[in-house]
Amino acid sequence: MHKFIKKIKNNEEKPYVIKNFLNSNEIREFIDLYQKLPIEVNNQRQKIVKKKWSTKLFPDLQKIYIEKLKSAIGEFSMDNPKDKMGNESLGLFQESFKPVSLHVDTGFDFDKVIYKQTLLPLSDKGETVIFKNRFYGCSTTFSINERELAAEGYNKRSSEHIELYNKKPFDKIMHEKYLQHEEIENLRGLEIDMIYKWKLGEILIFDRTSLHCSSSNLNRKKIGFTTSTKLNEIN
Ligand SMILES: [Fe+2]
Repeated sequence: MHKFIKKIKNNEEKPYVIKNFLNSNEIREFIDLYQKLPIEVNNQRQKIVKKKWSTKLFPDLQKIYIEKLKSAIGEFSMDNPKDKMGNESLGLFQESFKPVSLHVDTGFDFDKVIYKQTLLPLSDKGETVIFKNRFYGCSTTFSINERELAAEGYNKRSSEHIELYNKKPFDKIMHEKYLQHEEIENLRGLEIDMIYKWKLGEILIFDRTSLHCSSSNLNRKKIGFTTSTKLNEIN
């Protein structure tokens, strides 16, 4: 369980979208950057290709990105896992051919004041579902499926979310419309906060404690760039 829960909670807010976060030139630079980066992970099971943006690459675009992010969310520090060469990273590009399942990106260090997670769409067709429900343990993929629970991955795997919330059956219409890749029983007690329809140039900002997943509406594939942040001050 995270140690600075009070501080983390004090900074929680509803997810929001910033329009025109990037101009068309910067969008092109991000897509170019993505194409040039080496592959970090190619997960056949989850049908996802991951690339990390090392702080050693594209320094000019880094400055622009960090400045823009600061004007959006205030002072913060980056809190992304290092790349496989051991370099600091500004975040993760994910090219996914299958909807990402229910999870939380709270990290594994309970001494940090985790802050915002950002999603920068680099393809125009995609949807992300953010739930009102929160989680204060480590990065976890939530499932009630035995096979999924036994799978290996970066995140912990657990069904503990079911016990945390009110166990109310999930809305059937919303399940049908957006969440067909999740068993409806795995969504018990969950309530949707936002369905974000991806748009190039925008950025979605949400709390790292928010449960979220892709929507099941995926047009072959989508590419997004995500950054995890923390607050510097502990008090
Ligand atoms: Fe995530």
